[in-house]
Amino acid sequence: MNIIVGLTGGIGSGKSTVASLFLEHGAGIVDTDEIAHYLTQADGPAIARIRSVFGDDFIMDDGALNREKMRRLIFSDVAAKKRLEVILHPMILESAKTQILQMQSKPYIILVVPLLPESPSFQKLIQRVLVVDCDEDTQIARVTGRSRMTEADVRDVIAQQTPRKKRLQFADDVILNESSLGNIAEQVTALHERYSAIR
Ligand SMILES: Nc1ncnc2c1ncn2[C@@H]1O[C@H](COP(=O)(O)OP(=O)(O)O)[C@@H](O)[C@H]1O
Ligand SMILES: [Mg+2]
Repeated sequence: MNIIVGLTGGIGSGKSTVASLFLEHGAGIVDTDEIAHYLTQADGPAIARIRSVFGDDFIMDDGALNREKMRRLIFSDVAAKKRLEVILHPMILESAKTQILQMQSKPYIILVVPLLPESPSFQKLIQRVLVVDCDEDTQIARVTGRSRMTEADVRDVIAQQTPRKKRLQFADDVILNESSLGNIAEQVTALHERYSAIR
């Protein structure tokens, strides 16, 4: 049985970037953000239930989740956030388990879970925790650079996520992502050697 490493980190810390570097080494990658995106894309598997719980207003004309509108709702409404999680989390978990079963020939699996510190059901699937870490200013610069989110939006997300210090306490391994892409590639190569050797 090859190990499953849970990869987590705050918004914009570099989780997807790090996962793609592990992919180049031949690791199996299961990305719960990608699964959530797939479930809520135009006429995706979660759309009918989201429509029945939240109403037509939250579904766009093309049949995809209105992400902007949902994001605003769940920031201000904890109960609504919970209702969305009750729909999505079991579907994400099932899909992740299915993908893991299909990756048994890989040397190890990287399971990307942004909310790993808050998700006991995902913690049960993994043997190690890898945290991608960087400071808040770097997170803000990256996310405002890659999306239409403003600095205030990013600060709101960071405030809702597990605090940096607490997340680091939860880590078995840490990738510090504050310098060049070449620098994190070296850190990934070192971890690849270690994870490949664990059986
Ligand atoms: N070391 C780095 N140097 C420059 N840009 C980076 C670095 N790490 C990540 N980025 C960029 O920052 C943005 C956020 O990274 P991403 O991997 O998408 O974060 P996450 O998946 O954790 O939200 C992306 O546009 C990515 O290309
Ligand atoms: Mg990502």
